[in-house]
Amino acid sequence: MRDLLPSHRPLLILAPMQDITDLAFWRVLARYGGPDVFYTEYFRVHRDSHPEKYILRSIDENPTGRPVIAQMIGQDPDALRRTALELQKRNIAGIDLNFGCPAPIVCRKDAGGGLLRHPEKIDAILREVRAAVHLCFTVKTRIGFDAPHEFPALLDLYRCHPIDALTVHGRTVREMYRPVVHYDAIERAARLMPCPVFANGDVRCVESARRVIALTGASGLMIGRGAIRNPWLFDQIREAWSGEVQTRPTLLDLRDYIERLHEATQNPSIREAGQVGKMKKYLGYIAPGIGTDDAFWKEVRPAFTLRDLFAVCDRHLSAADPFPPAAAPLLA
Ligand SMILES: Cc1cc2nc3c(=O)[nH]c(=O)nc-3n(C[C@H](O)[C@H](O)[C@H](O)COP(=O)(O)O)c2cc1C
Repeated sequence: MRDLLPSHRPLLILAPMQDITDLAFWRVLARYGGPDVFYTEYFRVHRDSHPEKYILRSIDENPTGRPVIAQMIGQDPDALRRTALELQKRNIAGIDLNFGCPAPIVCRKDAGGGLLRHPEKIDAILREVRAAVHLCFTVKTRIGFDAPHEFPALLDLYRCHPIDALTVHGRTVREMYRPVVHYDAIERAARLMPCPVFANGDVRCVESARRVIALTGASGLMIGRGAIRNPWLFDQIREAWSGEVQTRPTLLDLRDYIERLHEATQNPSIREAGQVGKMKKYLGYIAPGIGTDDAFWKEVRPAFTLRDLFAVCDRHLSAADPFPPAAAPLLA
C-alpha cells in the first residue's frame, strides 16, 4: 500500500457503499478525475458463498484505470480465506476486511461491526486471511461497538498483525451515521499503527479534508457520501494540495452529473419506478443544501416518474450559480 501513497498529499480513496458505489457509479466518477483507489462493495462471505457476480464485474470491467481493493464481509475464517484466494486470481491490488457494517442483520451474525464485540474472532480471521493474501491486505474498522473507549484494545489487536493499511471510520457501531466523528481516535491509530492509516467519516469538502488531515495525521482520506454529492471533490482536494486554482462547478454542471448518473445506471430491464428509486438514492446525498430550506430535495422526494424528477432538476439546476459546498463535519 505504501507504493500507492503520493509524496505530497493524502491518498484519496472511494469508500465502498452497497448498491451505490457500483460499476456504473465508478464509470461516472472516473470522468471527474475520481479517487486514486477504488474499494468494491462488500462480497458477503460464508461457508457456501460464491463471490457475487455483479461485484466481480466492477473488478473485471474496471473502467477507471486505477487500482481496486476487493472488500469482504463475514465471520468464518476458512470461508474468508477461500474467497480471498479466489478473488486474488483477478485483477485486484488487494483484499480488505469489513469490521464496521452496523446493519443489525449483519451484526446479529457477528459479521461486520458485530465482530468488534469478539476480538478473539477478529484475531483468528486476521491470522487466517493474512496468510492467504499475497497482495495488499487492509482492514476497515469502526472505533468500537458500544463506545469509543473500546478502540485502544482493538488497535493493540490490529498492531499484532501485519496488515498493510487500516481505514478508520471514526464512529462506533452504535453511532451508525450520527453527525459526530471521533477524529481523535483516528489520530491515535495514525500515531500508533505501523502501517498507513486512512481517515473516514464526513469528509465533504476541501475544508473538511484539510481539517481531518490536520487533526489526524492520516496518510489518506476515504470518502463516501461527500464524493457522491460532489464528484469533483477528489480533483478539488488534489488541486488544494498542489496550490492550483480550484475547480468550481455550477448548478448546471451538477445537472449534467445527475444526467450522467441516470444514463450510467438505467437498465431497460428495470421498471421506471425502480430507476426513479435508484436516482433518489443518489439524490438523497446530492440534493440537501440546494435551494432555500432544502427545496430541491423536498421536490425530488415525491417525484414518481423520471420526467417529474428531471423537471425538478430543471427548476433548481438551470443557472450557472455556484454549486454550494456541503456543510463542514462536526467534531466529537
Ligand atoms: C448506503 C451505505 C452503504 C455502505 N456500504 C458499505 C460497504 O459495502 N462496505 C463498507 O466498508 N462500508 C460501507 N458503508 C460505509 C462507508 O464506506 C463509510 O464508511 C461511511 O459512509 C462514512 O464515510 P462518509 O462520511 O465519507 O460517507 C456504507 C455506507 C452507506 C451510507
